[in-house]
Amino acid sequence: MLGEEAAHKLEMRIERRIQMSGLRERKTLETFDWAFQPGLDKSLVLELARLEFVRRHDDLVVTGKSGTGKSHVLQAIALRACQEQMTVRYARCVDLLDDLYAGLADGTYPKRLRRWAAADLLVIDDVGLGQVKKREDEPTAAHTLFNLVDRRHARAATAVSSNIKLSAWGKYLGDTTLAAAILDRLAMHAVRIDIDGPSYRQLVATERAKQRGATLPDDSPQP
Ligand SMILES: Nc1ncnc2c1ncn2[C@@H]1O[C@H](COP(=O)(O)OP(=O)(O)OP(=O)(O)O)[C@@H](O)[C@H]1O
Ligand SMILES: [Mg+2]
Repeated sequence: MLGEEAAHKLEMRIERRIQMSGLRERKTLETFDWAFQPGLDKSLVLELARLEFVRRHDDLVVTGKSGTGKSHVLQAIALRACQEQMTVRYARCVDLLDDLYAGLADGTYPKRLRRWAAADLLVIDDVGLGQVKKREDEPTAAHTLFNLVDRRHARAATAVSSNIKLSAWGKYLGDTTLAAAILDRLAMHAVRIDIDGPSYRQLVATERAKQRGATLPDDSPQP
């Protein structure tokens, strides 16, 4: 009976961690179609999901075109970390920046930065997607990301996904020097994965079109 109660408490604790993490979807590696993405090293991803890299305070940088499963993989790893009772914070890059900018307006920026910096695993998803707000005064987007990555560097693991080339971060963040400084820190202790393959979204779209009996227009992108 006691065992059951303890198990229930643990489940509640994990549930709370997932809620606090900012993960909105619960992707898992069990639902990942490895055969669809043969260029992705399955054993490496499964090894990462054992979370030793988090315990070692290493970073993880996943690049690749849109729809190749970068967010799926990072979200699954983040979920595993919640289940392992780690403190996880997940956000898309633009949402993380918006959260910190909101703190500039009401004086909670330092507190918010500390919270993002304190997580055992921070996932900054979708760098390159969406418009980064241009700010004239400091901290700019590049400053903010730099502050965060610098604070966490070699102290806690940060996982990043990007569908633009790392060399394009300078333009995206509006500051080539700071972007280089961020990448320099991430590169030092980072596992790098580049998913070179097809888009799963295209597969889903094609399958749906087939099911509807519709034919795709000739100029639609091929999966
Ligand atoms: N190999 C796969 N097996 C099963 N589902 C997949 C696979 N790859 C991607 N998906 C699913 O396809 C959708 C798009 O994938 P995901 O969001 O991970 O792409 P992404 O690489 O992050 O793209 P973007 O650069 O546009 O953010 C998601 O719903 C994801 O769960
Ligand atoms: Mg993504």
